[in-house]
Amino acid sequence: MKIIRSPRAMTAWSDQLRREGVTIGLVPTMGALHDGHRALIRDIRLRCDALAVSIFVNPTQFGPKEDLTTYPRQIARDRMLCRTEGVDACFEPTASAMYPEGFQTTVSVPDIARRWEGAARPHHFGGVATVVAKLFGIVRPHLTAFGQKDYQQAALVRQLIADLNLGIELDVRPTVREEDGLAMSSRNVYLSPDQRRRAPILYRALSAGRQAILGGLRDGGKVNRIMKQIMKQEPVIQVEYLAVCDVASLEPLSKIVRSAVLLGAARIGSVRLIDNITVSVPTRKRS
Ligand code: PAF
Repeated sequence: MKIIRSPRAMTAWSDQLRREGVTIGLVPTMGALHDGHRALIRDIRLRCDALAVSIFVNPTQFGPKEDLTTYPRQIARDRMLCRTEGVDACFEPTASAMYPEGFQTTVSVPDIARRWEGAARPHHFGGVATVVAKLFGIVRPHLTAFGQKDYQQAALVRQLIADLNLGIELDVRPTVREEDGLAMSSRNVYLSPDQRRRAPILYRALSAGRQAILGGLRDGGKVNRIMKQIMKQEPVIQVEYLAVCDVASLEPLSKIVRSAVLLGAARIGSVRLIDNITVSVPTRKRS
């Protein structure tokens, strides 16, 4: 496996392979890889000839009071996981290589970024959209994979690929969960044992919302109240938002017709948990 640090060398690697007719996959990450990342890597590994994983803790997507300096970094373990999964190149640029002096272009996807995570973290999606566009420009992949855990991020990347005519195939993979339902996240290492025990409540609340919809409830407000009620079982966890939304626009739904995505974010101590579940309304069979 090649370790590539400079954007120029990364593009040279990709250009050479493209000339040989090789299909290139890219899994963008911030490192601290877990089984959720492994699932993305395995998915793309099967569908391309050459696979790159980028490991870059992108400073521009962190707000001034967020965890940029303490974000978990474990590059030796990450490389090991990549090697084991048959990754061909690990792209590990420095911040100054990605944002050299004079850098001034930013990418924004305003409608998708406006609500939910975008409202809670105003810097976040501008940073994500810009770095993802840069990573696509540097690696020039044919296909890429993102996790459904960051539902809004995946929607933003889909829009970015379409709007900028990048022609990259995007695969959004299901969230990988711990046995008790907690969505895997690099930030779960921040949870104390007590917080870790309580954290799956968010998934339980979203699951209760899904059950209510599958059971016939179509009123978005009522589904929301069911989810909020479950969250009250853990008063130490503060809900930031719980929402029943359109799967594409992420606008809140008052009436659920075909499908919905249930989005949630909550704070436990200094740790933010986010999660989501999609639901398709069962179609009635005609007799
Ligand atoms: O989801 C992440 O790890 C990051 O937001 C991403 C997509 C790698 C951009 O820095």
